[in-house]
Amino acid sequence: MSRSSQPRLGHDHLGLGVGLRSPHFQHILQHQPDVDWFEIISENFMDSQGRPRFVLDELAERYPIVMHGVSLSIGSSDPLNFDYLRRLKRLADEVNARWVSDHVCWTGVAGLNAHDLLPIPFTEDKLAHVTRRMRIVQDALERPLVLENPSSYVEFAGSTLREWDFIRSMTEETGCGLLLDVNNVYVSSVNHDFDPFEYLRSMPHERIVQFHLAGHTNCGTHLVDTHDGPVIDPVWELYREAHRLTGGVSTLLEWDAQIPAFPVLHAEVLKARDHVAGLDRPLDSLAETVPPQTVAVDFTAVPHPATVIRAECE
Ligand SMILES: [Fe+2]
Repeated sequence: MSRSSQPRLGHDHLGLGVGLRSPHFQHILQHQPDVDWFEIISENFMDSQGRPRFVLDELAERYPIVMHGVSLSIGSSDPLNFDYLRRLKRLADEVNARWVSDHVCWTGVAGLNAHDLLPIPFTEDKLAHVTRRMRIVQDALERPLVLENPSSYVEFAGSTLREWDFIRSMTEETGCGLLLDVNNVYVSSVNHDFDPFEYLRSMPHERIVQFHLAGHTNCGTHLVDTHDGPVIDPVWELYREAHRLTGGVSTLLEWDAQIPAFPVLHAEVLKARDHVAGLDRPLDSLAETVPPQTVAVDFTAVPHPATVIRAECE
C-alpha cells in the first residue's frame, strides 16, 4: 500500500494496523508480527498497571500506538469528566500515542454509563454543544481530537441536518480530525436508507486521518455493528471509494467478538492492499475521481428498522 498521501493534522500514514486485544497478547509478544501499528481501547489501559499495561509498554517500544476511546461522551449534557481527560492525556503521553480518537456520540447522562455509543440529534444547537465541548477537550489533551462516525439504529425525528453535514461542520469549527469507519457508514446506510457513497463524497476528505474496517451482523431487518467477522464485499467497495477520495490513510481492522487467531486477523487487514492496488494517485488529481458506484442493496426486502423498533415499543 502506498503511504505517499499527505499527513493529516501532521499525522503520518501508518499503514495497515489491527486492534490490540488480550487474546493475542502472548502471540504478539512471542512472534512480534510484521504489523504496521496497533490501536488500543483507551479505557482498557488507563487504570491498569498489570499485565495489559506491561504488554502495551513493550509494544509501544516497537510499534506505533493509536488510542481509541469509548467514554468521552462528547454529546452528553453531563459535564465533561476532567479526571478522565487527565488520565487519557497521561496515557497518551506515556505510550507516545500518534493520536487519540473517540466517537460522535454520547454514552450516558446523569452520571450513568449506558456502555453504548448512542446517537446525537443532528441539529444546529447540538452542533454548537458538541463543538464547544470539543474545544475544551482538545485544550485539555493538548492535541487535536479525532472523532469517529458511529453506527446507528434509530434517528431523531427532530434532526435538521444529515449526519455527514453535522460531521463536516463539526470538523470545520473545531479543526478536529476524522476517523471514518467505513463499515459504520454501510451499517447506517442500510438501517436508515441513505446512499453510502453520498456520505463518503460529503466528508471533508482532507481531515480524515484514519479508516476503520470491520465485520457486522445482518439481522434481516437491520444490520448491527458487531465486529465479529470478516469485512464483506460491499464494505470493501466503499473502502476503495474512500481510498480514492482521500488518497489513502492509516487503516485499522476491528474484531471484537468471535476473535480469531492473530494470523487470521492480520491476513484480513492485509486484504486492503489488494483492494486499493492501482488506485493511488496524487491528491491534486482527486477532482477527477471515478464516478461513484452503488452497492446493490434491496431496501424493499426488509422492513425499515425504525418500523420494527416502533412495533416493539408498542
Ligand atoms: Fe469503528
